Amino acid sequence: MALRWMTYEPHTYVRVTDRVVYRWIQAWRQGGGALASVVELRETKALAGIVEVSIAPHGAILGFIFSRSYWRVGYAAEAVKAVIDVAFESFHVWRVWATCATENEPSRPVLEKCRLEVEGTLRRWVVSPLVSPIPRDSFCVAITKEEWLTQGSLPRGSIENPVLTPHNPSTALTQ
Ligand SMILES: CC(C)(COP(=O)(O)OP(=O)(O)OC[C@H]1O[C@@H](n2cnc3c(N)ncnc32)[C@H](O)[C@@H]1OP(=O)(O)O)[C@@H](O)C(=O)NCCC(=O)NCCS
Repeated sequence: MALRWMTYEPHTYVRVTDRVVYRWIQAWRQGGGALASVVELRETKALAGIVEVSIAPHGAILGFIFSRSYWRVGYAAEAVKAVIDVAFESFHVWRVWATCATENEPSRPVLEKCRLEVEGTLRRWVVSPLVSPIPRDSFCVAITKEEWLTQGSLPRGSIENPVLTPHNPSTALTQ
C-alpha cells in the first residue's frame, strides 16, 4: 500500500484534520505558504485527492495524495500538472520541486509525467512513520522555469481553466 510512504500518520481525531484545513484556508487568505487544491470529480463531486504546493520566495514544493478508489486513472498526474502551471504562472517561482521516498513506486511516475527530473538522492532525508522511525532515502526532483517555458504548458487533459490564484482561493480544480 502506497500510503505507507507518507510523512505523517493517519489522523485519529477530526480536530487534527480541522486544524490542517484551517491552516490551508489561512494560507489562501494570505496568498502564500502551503496552498492546497482539492481535486473533485465533476459528476459526483467526490473528493479524488489533494495537491499541496508550498510557495517560497523562489521555489514551490509539491505534495499530493489521492483516494485509493481513484488510483491509476491519471487524476494525480493531471492535477499535479495543472498546479505546476499555476505555480509558474501565478506565483512566478523559478523552480517547482518535490521529494519522494526512493521506495515509493507509484509516486515517481507521476512526477516524471509532470516533467520533474531527478536531481539527486537525499540520503536519510525522510521519515515515513508507518514504515519506520529511521530516516530513509528520497529522490529530489524538480522542473525549472526555463524548462517549463521551453516545453510549454503541460497538457492538462480534462482539467479546464484551473483558476487557482492568490486572489481566488475558493475555486477548486474540478475533474
Ligand atoms: C502516488 C499517487 C498520488 C498516484 O496517484 P494515481 O492517481 O494513481 O496516479 P496516476 O493515475 O496519475 O498515474 C500516473 C502514472 O503513474 C503510474 N503509477 C501509478 N501508480 C503506480 C503504481 N502503483 N506502480 C507503478 N506505476 C504507477 C501510472 O501507471 C501512470 O503512468 P502511465 O500513464 O505511464 O501508466 C497515489 O498512489 C497516492 O495517493 N499515494 C499515496 C500518497 C503518496 O505517496 N503521495 C506522493 C508523496 S511524494
